[in-house]
Amino acid sequence: MDSAAPVLTIDGPSGSGKGTISRIVAQRLGWHYLDSGALYRAVGVAAGWADLDLDDGGALVRCTFDTVVAFREDGDGELRVLINGNDATDELRTETAGAAASAIAAIPEVRAALKDRQRAFRQLPGLVADGRDMGTVIFPDAARKVFLTASAEERAARRYKQLKDKGVSVTLDGLLREILARDARDASRAVAPLRPAEDAIRIDTTGLPIEDVVARVLDVVSRSAG
Ligand code: C5P
Repeated sequence: MDSAAPVLTIDGPSGSGKGTISRIVAQRLGWHYLDSGALYRAVGVAAGWADLDLDDGGALVRCTFDTVVAFREDGDGELRVLINGNDATDELRTETAGAAASAIAAIPEVRAALKDRQRAFRQLPGLVADGRDMGTVIFPDAARKVFLTASAEERAARRYKQLKDKGVSVTLDGLLREILARDARDASRAVAPLRPAEDAIRIDTTGLPIEDVVARVLDVVSRSAG
């Protein structure tokens, strides 16, 4: 970690556009990018591979320590995620991995075990960190904080389109129910619940084209010092 490196935190609920916006903004700024959700998802996938019970907190904490997650860009500029050396990028994006991640993320020891791994991404020339608690817990001293929101209906519709494009069969109603359940779990957990940092700029992305959101986020960066 390099505490002199500037950090832009982008937090928000699932489907708010964080991932897409964060990647574009990191590219434009030439900064590093941390997809913190991928770390929680990776533990969820590794737990699935080891056939662990999602109610067995002790086993999940051990699994967190044992799981090596590496990010690598492929030739097309796509970010690949390796779990213990195996490319698990596609498996990571499934609803099953998301739901497992959300359950695992409620365990305080898991969150503590992942703290330093996330902070290690803070390197010059800067970092764009995307997640739920980037501005509140992991990088509370970041000079630039954004909280993205969008209506649950729009978030479900975006996810529906993404999955349809990949040929995955889902229903809009089912996705909306999953999104609402995940929001409720993420917002109500005792440790690091999903909430905007007091000094975060909120941007509602409902109905906004990606380019407009990117422009607003870049504006936040250019207006902050430090
Ligand atoms: O952002 P993504 O949907 O990939 O995250 C998957 C799950 O991981 C979230 O629903 C949330 O429970 C958890 N998470 C978290 N803190 C983060 C990032 C993700 O608790 N910083």
